Amino acid sequence: MIRSALMNVMTAAALKAGRALKRDFGEVENLQVSVKGPGDFVSAADHKAEKILFEELSKARPGYGFVMEESGIVEGSDKSHVWYVDPLDGTANFLHGLPIFGISIGLARDDQIVAGLVYNPALEALYIAEKGQGAYLNNRRLRVAARRELGEALVGCAIPHLGKAGHARFKAELSAVMECAANLRRLGAAALDLCFVAAGAYDGFWERGLKPWDLAAGILIVREAGGFVTDADGGSDILAKGSVCAGNENIHSQLLALIRSAG
Ligand code: IPD
Ligand code: CA
Ligand code: CA
Repeated sequence: MIRSALMNVMTAAALKAGRALKRDFGEVENLQVSVKGPGDFVSAADHKAEKILFEELSKARPGYGFVMEESGIVEGSDKSHVWYVDPLDGTANFLHGLPIFGISIGLARDDQIVAGLVYNPALEALYIAEKGQGAYLNNRRLRVAARRELGEALVGCAIPHLGKAGHARFKAELSAVMECAANLRRLGAAALDLCFVAAGAYDGFWERGLKPWDLAAGILIVREAGGFVTDADGGSDILAKGSVCAGNENIHSQLLALIRSAG
């Protein structure tokens, strides 16, 4: 696999921020036993990683705009390019010492996602995709799972946390999917959840209440692995809607029908 200059830039930024996150993850495991808890420390780690990503990407591609989880929107002089950056997706996992978290970087050109990267530094898993070039995990080409029936499928989802909207709706959807899917998982990092679909680990995944930086990279990675992705109501403006349903063609349509009818 030959990496483009653009993907080299994205990878270098993610590896640098990933080294900082991994160091801090080692510390957070030690802080678990303290009474105050590691909350402030994690928030500092999150901001530090985002600063590294912002600096590295700005240096390599001056003028591109940014939509970042922690620092918000930075308008670029180049109006056609926007980076979507989540420096730490899976914060609750990170905070609790669970090694399922990652950096997510998506690049949109004229409102189309053209490149995506999700990097889990704890497991050294680097997922990348460029439009029309396929999706890869550490240089291995990815392909979505081939299972056709929901009754054989492992489906990822997301349980809304305390205080988040959508508990009732999720319970209805969960109950509908539980009746039909072989098995369900909630692993807690939406960008990685989408990569698990791309890698064929999950057969399908759905979630509501997400932000563009959770989704931009993962959407392209699933599509480049041959998967189908829409918002959770079947529409195509996934970033604006903030919901997602993904899988291979068969699982995507069965899962979508179930969650739509549950609402
Ligand atoms: C969260 C994770 C989680 C999802 C939440 C997101 P964060 O992102 O992706 O899996 O269920 O809705 O906000 O806060 O860890 O970056
Ligand atoms: Ca996130
Ligand atoms: Ca985050």
